[in-house]
Amino acid sequence: MKLFLDTANLDEIRDGARLGVVSGVTTNPSLAASAGIGDREAYRSAVAEIASFVDGPISVEVVSTDTQGMVDEGRDIANWIPNPWVKIPSTIEGIEAIATLAGEGIRVNQTLCFSVNQAILGAQAGATVVSPFIGRLDDIGHDGIALIRDIADLFREAAVETQVMAASVRHPLHCLKAAQAGAHIATVPYRTLIQMAQHPLTDAGLARFIADWQKASQT
Ligand code: G3P
Repeated sequence: MKLFLDTANLDEIRDGARLGVVSGVTTNPSLAASAGIGDREAYRSAVAEIASFVDGPISVEVVSTDTQGMVDEGRDIANWIPNPWVKIPSTIEGIEAIATLAGEGIRVNQTLCFSVNQAILGAQAGATVVSPFIGRLDDIGHDGIALIRDIADLFREAAVETQVMAASVRHPLHCLKAAQAGAHIATVPYRTLIQMAQHPLTDAGLARFIADWQKASQT
């Protein structure tokens, strides 16, 4: 399972990219706003900077809700950087926009996916990747990981090329479970990426190795 960073914070992306495990970045209007990005030009220049740190797909979301608006924005975003994935919501207007953009060879990340049926529609429309929001499903008492598994199983059995990206990831257990459920990608907050490496036995073991080595080298 590949790991993407789910943030528009340039410091986090710069630090995360240095680790050598980040294959792409996803952004959305909320993440952009929380990174202090307030207009389209600022979004565009932040995305260009992100693309200079990360050699992989960068997802950029449209803010129109009508099909033509999404298509116009998607065509524009497709020219911002060398490897854009245009994020289009899983509405009926969005499905039509996905079909139009995909038909023009523009890669699309179908976002705000909460059901297998939405994923089927997006795949039929030609989405490159579908993003089930697992944390938000868990928040309302549904099983986000089960949705990942259902979509991944179905796509594998039907040889559908659309990839499954676990999104709305909140903690390291989501990463483990998404990988086990067959997600091709998990897009994770920076803090979750760091938590994936953390284990108290690693810290304790390292402290003991260093202490033993220092003791031995003093005798
Ligand atoms: O990838 C989608 C993500 O940014 C949404 O996460 O935590 O706002 O549900 P969250």
